[in-house]
Amino acid sequence: MRLRSWLFQQFREVSRLFAFEEVDFPVLESEALFVRKAGEEITQQLYNFEDKGGRRVSLRPELTPSLARLVLQKGKALPLPVKWFAIGQCWRYERMTRGRRREHYQWNMDILGIPGVEAEVELLSAIVTFFKKVGISSNDVGIKISSRKVLQSLLERFEVPPGSFAAVCVVVDKVEKITRKEVEEELLKLGVLKDAADGILNALSVRSLTELEGLLGTESEAVRDLKQLFSLANGYGFADWLVFDASVVRGLAYYTGTVFEGFDKEGKLRAICGGGRYDRLLSTFGGEDTPACGFGFGDAVIVELLKDRGLLPSLQQEIDFIVFPLEEVLRPQAGLVTTKLREAGCVVELILESKKMKWAFKHAERLQAKQLVLLGSSEWERGCVRVKNLSSREEEDISIDELITKANTSKE
Ligand code: HAM
Repeated sequence: MRLRSWLFQQFREVSRLFAFEEVDFPVLESEALFVRKAGEEITQQLYNFEDKGGRRVSLRPELTPSLARLVLQKGKALPLPVKWFAIGQCWRYERMTRGRRREHYQWNMDILGIPGVEAEVELLSAIVTFFKKVGISSNDVGIKISSRKVLQSLLERFEVPPGSFAAVCVVVDKVEKITRKEVEEELLKLGVLKDAADGILNALSVRSLTELEGLLGTESEAVRDLKQLFSLANGYGFADWLVFDASVVRGLAYYTGTVFEGFDKEGKLRAICGGGRYDRLLSTFGGEDTPACGFGFGDAVIVELLKDRGLLPSLQQEIDFIVFPLEEVLRPQAGLVTTKLREAGCVVELILESKKMKWAFKHAERLQAKQLVLLGSSEWERGCVRVKNLSSREEEDISIDELITKANTSKE
């Protein structure tokens, strides 16, 4: 929990710096919210069941559909643009590997109402800010970027019916998981002819914008967007984290434009985070199309990466004082000293049972507490307590008032 809280604190702090508002959604949703017909893995991995009222429900596998529904529900009352973040638990019936679990938490940041890549760049900047904050550099991690508009123009060129777009993207995304032949067979089932399938799959090997421009022409929307994105990222000062990679398509049906994925440069781990533009998700729920983009950032791969790089923080509990009544009759007085110290903002562990002095010292050492306050009746009669500094080993008798004044100044 210490590690999780620390991680969430970093997520929250970055979101705050970018002026995003925190939102949350129900963990249990109607199954229909997550069922899409494009053959995505995520739909096959639902933790779904029937509730006592006979309704089909599911634990959420992701946050985006709930977010879209909330925006729809608010309708015109919600002034756009909206910049929201959420940290939520998600469930997917996945094959468990390093960095993929059946239960995980995701940090999401989403911007709704901005049609241009200005939104993507803010999101990418937030991801980079997070990486830097936890000590990861662009030598360790990169973010692959592409746009689904690349595939879209190829499909248009090969006269693939526009209705198959999402399903084609989901199939093409499998190219690294199944063989090229299997991908081609699945594409054929979707009505993509052999030549078209070859053309599409060959285009995925493109790794530079100049090459992409050669393939799609200077007028291409995909090329224009990506160029603008890279130029803005350059302005922000994080372009060194980005790489154009046409093979990034992402496995979710709803993306329509930019898509991106964070990856470790050693190539050992699964995607660290992923996101993109989904301008048409709201209309699939019966609302008006609204420009939208965002990302999900899981809690699993990042921890593996931090572990590998020796970047996990130690996260020792920080205890300022241990208060220890030497006699049981002094327990109310120990309570008083403890309360005053806590009111001063100090973290205080009060020993709650009758224990030997030796035990109290060991306990203080184990917790790496800074000071030990001992209450004995002779000192108490003089209005004093004995305070032992556990690093310097010095001890002194000081009045309660002095102790509290010192505690207050140390917390200022
Ligand atoms: P996704 O790529 O399915 O996208 O998941 C986003 C991130 O969540 C992954 O890159 C990974 O960090 C984490 N993740 C996903 N599944 C698991 C798992 N089984 N175990 C551990 N971590 C996992 C989405 O979910 C989109 N809804 C993201 C998004 C938000 N797009 C726009 N807004």
